[in-house]
Amino acid sequence: MNNAELLSSFPIYVGDGLTPWQQAGILAEPGGGKTLEDFRTLSSADPIVRAHYPATADADAVATKRWQKAQRAESQFWRTWRQNTLYKDVSLYDFWLEVVEKTGGPLAPGRTLDVGCGPVSVLNFVRPKGMQPFGLDPLAEVYAREKLIECRDDVRPMPIAGLPAERMPFLDESLDQVICLNVLDHVSDAPRVLAEIHRVLKKDGYLRLYVHTFASWIKRFLFFDTPHTYHWDHEEFKALVEAGGFKIVHELMEPKTFDLPETLLGKLGFFPYWVATKVAYTSYFKVQRV
Ligand SMILES: C[S@@+](CC[C@H](N)C(=O)[O-])C[C@H]1O[C@@H](n2cnc3c(N)ncnc32)[C@H](O)[C@@H]1O
Repeated sequence: MNNAELLSSFPIYVGDGLTPWQQAGILAEPGGGKTLEDFRTLSSADPIVRAHYPATADADAVATKRWQKAQRAESQFWRTWRQNTLYKDVSLYDFWLEVVEKTGGPLAPGRTLDVGCGPVSVLNFVRPKGMQPFGLDPLAEVYAREKLIECRDDVRPMPIAGLPAERMPFLDESLDQVICLNVLDHVSDAPRVLAEIHRVLKKDGYLRLYVHTFASWIKRFLFFDTPHTYHWDHEEFKALVEAGGFKIVHELMEPKTFDLPETLLGKLGFFPYWVATKVAYTSYFKVQRV
C-alpha cells in the first residue's frame, strides 16, 4: 500500500468539512507510515475511533480570536525554539524522563493519547514496551509540514491527528492512559477538554498533567503572556481538575526555574530571578478518572 492509499483509508477522519490533512490524519516525519498503518490496523480490529466524525458549528466554537492569537505565538515558538540558546543543547530524553517522574513515575503500557502533543512529544522519547501511542494537536499540520517533529532514533514517531481536544474523535472509555503536558493553559475551553478526556479515558484510567501556575496576585499583570489562554494558581487548577471528575493521586508544585545566566532575568541579576521563583511555578499531577 502506498502512502496516498494508506492516508485515504485512515479511519479517523471521515467527517464532512474537514481539511484534507484532517481527513487523512497527520504523519509524523520521518518513517511515520508504518506507525500509522499499525494504528489503523489495530483500531479497525478493536475500534477506538468514531466511524463518523461530522464537522459541526459547535466545533468552530473553539476557534476564538484569543486562542488563535495564542496558537500563532505557539507555532512561531516551535519554528525557532532550537535556535534559542536556552534549548539548543537540551536532551529531550532527559527532560521527559524528569517530567515523567514528576507526574507520578513510569508510564503504563496500553493505548495512550497525548493531548496537545506538540512536535517533540514525551511519547516519542519515553515509550514503554506495549504502549500504543498517538497524539492530538491542532498544529499537527504545521509541525509535520515544517518538519519540526522530533523523535528518539530508535523509536517511530507516533501518528498525530490535527484537531483541537475540545471535541475528540475517540469512542467513550476507549483509552488506557491520557497525557496532557503544558497544554490545558493553552486551550480555548479547558473544562470542555477535561470533560472530553474524562469521556474517552477508561474508568480508573490515569491522566497526567502539568501546567504553569502563578501566585494569585500576579495573575492580573500577565496580559502580555500571549501563548497562555489561562492563568491559574495551583489550588484553582486543582479544583478545576477535581470538578472534571478526577481524583488527585499525586501532585507536585515547584518554583519555575530559569536557566541562569542565559535568560534576561539572569542578566538582570539575582534579585529579579529570586522574585520570579516566588511568583511562577510548575504544577504536576497524576489523576485518576472516577
Ligand atoms: C506549550 S505546547 C506543549 C506541547 C507538548 N505537550 C510539550 O509539552 O512539548 C502547547 C500545545 O498545545 C496545543 N494546543 C493548543 N490548543 C489546543 C487544543 N484546543 N486542543 C489540543 N491541543 C491544543 C498547541 O498546539 C501546542 O502544541
